Parts: sequence; structure tokens; C-alpha cells
Amino acid sequence: MNLRTWNLFLILIFISLANIVEAQDSLGTWIQFQSLVSKERMLRNISPADAVPGIVIASPSRQSPDYRYHWTRDSSLVMDQVVWLFRDAPDNIKSTYLKYLTDFISLANIQQQTPSAEGLGEPRYLVNGIADTTPWARPQYDGPALRAQTLIHFLNIFKGENTIRLQAINVLRTDLQFVLLNWKSPCFDLWEELKGLHFYTQSVQYAALNAGAEFFKNEGDLLFSEQLTRESTELKIELEKYWDESRGYIGASRNLEVRPSSPHYKEANLDVSVILGALHGQGSNGILSFNDDRLLATAHAIEMAFGSAYRINQDSSSSSGAVAIGRFTDDVYYGGNPWYITTAAFAELYYRIAETIKLEGGIVVTKNNLGFLKAVLPSLDAQNLKSGEKILSSSVLGQQLLSGLSNKGDAFLAIVRKYAGSQGELAEQFDRDAGVPVSAYDLTWSYASFLSAINFYKLP
Ligand code: NOJ
Ligand code: NOJ
Repeated sequence: MNLRTWNLFLILIFISLANIVEAQDSLGTWIQFQSLVSKERMLRNISPADAVPGIVIASPSRQSPDYRYHWTRDSSLVMDQVVWLFRDAPDNIKSTYLKYLTDFISLANIQQQTPSAEGLGEPRYLVNGIADTTPWARPQYDGPALRAQTLIHFLNIFKGENTIRLQAINVLRTDLQFVLLNWKSPCFDLWEELKGLHFYTQSVQYAALNAGAEFFKNEGDLLFSEQLTRESTELKIELEKYWDESRGYIGASRNLEVRPSSPHYKEANLDVSVILGALHGQGSNGILSFNDDRLLATAHAIEMAFGSAYRINQDSSSSSGAVAIGRFTDDVYYGGNPWYITTAAFAELYYRIAETIKLEGGIVVTKNNLGFLKAVLPSLDAQNLKSGEKILSSSVLGQQLLSGLSNKGDAFLAIVRKYAGSQGELAEQFDRDAGVPVSAYDLTWSYASFLSAINFYKLP
């Protein structure tokens, strides 16, 4: 039985079991089911029949929207999950995942050498591997940085055949050289709307430079490694500039050159892309750390904003504190609804914050993180919380904080569960009033974001 048939078989068993236990089953059982569905449907969108090998379509949807393209951003985030599947797979299945990965790398190698208007700043490719030429928001500079990180993750676990390693290292070096040259330049944001400097783009560039420096140091290429380190030190200073002291959160963009025509659009500069920046920047350090009080302040501000933005968040049954999350509250794209990737991102964020606080032995309460911390503590303890106090993770309060954080992570996943399709399908968005899936169906990145979040889920 091949991998696909095996996955399908397991899903069928789960569906019949789920019918028996119906809605009674625990979050843990659902996570197992949703993982199988996510893996299966995500893999279907990699190297589909009519595409060249290595292509990752954003979604099979051919219209409203037409997403049968290979975005460098989406595909890199998806292949990052394939790296972890490859790492964790039993030996007899490893080769299937390795094939997806090597095809992706060979295709990237070709894409890097074929001409396009913006070089590696081209955001998307047709399914035949050729750069897109339709009018689009270009350049976008996050893609090569994301791909570089995925390649490093792969190279750190793959110790096999030398030709594969060499090709991956070549592609990686080219991506990093591109990041070195372009991180200071304005580009379109990950949502393909605004041109300027973006916290998201610069976060993933920073993480790529850092990880690249470490990788090439181990490879013995000290010159390149030092160059990467020098630039990442400079970039770190830039990242700190996104903190907006007067608003009390990290702003999404700076120095905008292209804004949409409507005058007040995105004026608040409050965008979930900041959270994605921390997650895809691997919580590197400084403003990106999962215990940085400015990041926690931003997460709190985003939750508050979305809490009142959508009707489905007004539902009184959602006493868990978690709410459906979209891109930004004045979004209008396909109705400007909550998205699965951004709601799953919040689950991952809470898990990773808990992990970091535990690792550090606690957290100091500040005026910036006070609101965030209060919201996860039982109300009596929350009322007494004071700025300046240190919560030790070994204390009773610390234990309450840690379980509060992981419960809230679970609550965000429960929202994904509630609004997923009946067979576990994840589209791009779910309707803000009716809660039903909308826009592109089977969004590959939605499945990857779920798999990414549950990598940090701890069984109770
Ligand atoms: C506007 C959307 O907000 C953006 O995310 C999308 O990629 C472009 N339009 C192209 O459809
Ligand atoms: C629109 C999103 O804004 C963008 O980030 C994504 O790359 C494309 N859809 C494809 O999924």
C-alpha cells in the first residue's frame, strides 16, 4: 500500500469511528483525525498530475480565486512541514517524502536560473514552472528567506546522498545571497497589497540570515557565514523600529510607497502578519522572542480587535477566550473573513509562549504584557497581577499561567475544528457570519499551518 492509499484508509477508519462517538470525542482525537486529513490533502497539492514535479499549488481552485499557481511563500511553508514528516516517518515511507523534497529543490534550482521580471522577488510561478507574467504585486521578498529556512531544516536532518545535499546547498546559497542584497529594499507584503518595509518580511529575512550564518559556519565557509551575521545584526536594529510605543503594539509596515486607494484602509497597522513573523522567524530573539512583552502586547491587541469584528466571535458559547482570527479587521478580500492559517497561528503562538516561559523559568510582568497575561489567568489571580512582579513557572501562579496558555492554544484549535469542513477540509477563509468555508478550497497552506501548530501541542 502506498502512502496515499494508507492515509486514505486511516481517514476512512477515523470517519467511521467519529460517526460512532460523534461530537463526544476529545480534542486529542480530533487532532489525530485532522492530522491525517491535513497530510493527505496537503500532499495532493504537491506535484499534481498536470504540473511539473516539485510544484506546490496554493489550492486546486481554478476560479474565484484561481490559485493553481506555485507561490514561493506558500510552497516553502508547506515543504517545511514535509521536512518534519520526512524526519518522523518510518523508514519504508521516508523515500516518498524525500521525493517531494528533492523535486521541490530541483525545481527551485531551475526557477532561480530562469529569467523573471523581479528575479527571485517573483512571488509566483505557473504549474509548468515558468515565472508568472500577469500583472501582480511584485516584487515580494519573503519567499527566498522562507525557502532558505526550509532548506536548512532539511539539510540539518538529511545526511544522505551527496548530489542532493550539494544541490540543496547551492539553492540555499543563492536564496541567502538574494536576501543579503534585498532586505533593505521595499517590496509587497505577504498579503500582496502594500509596498514598503514589513515586519513579516524582515522577520523571516532575519531568521534566514541567522540560520544561514550558523549553517555555513558548520560547513566551514566562514567568510560567507560572517557576512550573513554582519547583515543580520544590522537587520535586528531595523526590526525593533516596528514597535509603536504610542499604540502599544508592533506595527506591520513602515515607509509605505504603495497603499490601496481607500483612505483609511489599514491605518491601524495592526495585522496578524506580525504573529506569523514571530512564528516563521522561529522566535529568533529580541522582538521576535515568544516571551517579548511587545509581541505579547501585539497578540492581545489583535485578539481584542477580532473579538468584536466578526459575528461568529460574539457567540456566547465561546467562553474559552479564543476567537476566530483574520488578517486585519478592515480586510475585504473575499469578504474579509477569519482565516484558518491565522487562527491556527494563534494556537501555535500560545503553545510556543508556554514553552518559552517554561524554558526561561518564568516571566516578568510589565505594562506591555499585563493585559495578555491577565487574560489567561483565573480572574482572582489576574486582578492582583502587578507590573514588575516575576511569575516563576514553578510557583502555583506559574503553573496556572502555563496551563492557561496551553488551554488557550487548544481553544484556538477548537475554533479551527468548529469551522472546518465536515470531512476536515480547510479552505482559505470561513465566513464571519455563517462560519462556513469560503474562498479557495483545500488551501495547501491551511493544512500546513494546522500541522505546524500541532507540532507544539502537548498531550494532556
Ligand atoms: C488582494 C488580496 O488581499 C491578496 O491577498 C491577494 O493575494 C491579491 N488580492 C491577489 O488576488
Ligand atoms: C493570498 C494571500 O494573501 C497570499 O499570502 C498567498 O500567498 C496567496 N493567497 C496564495 O495562497
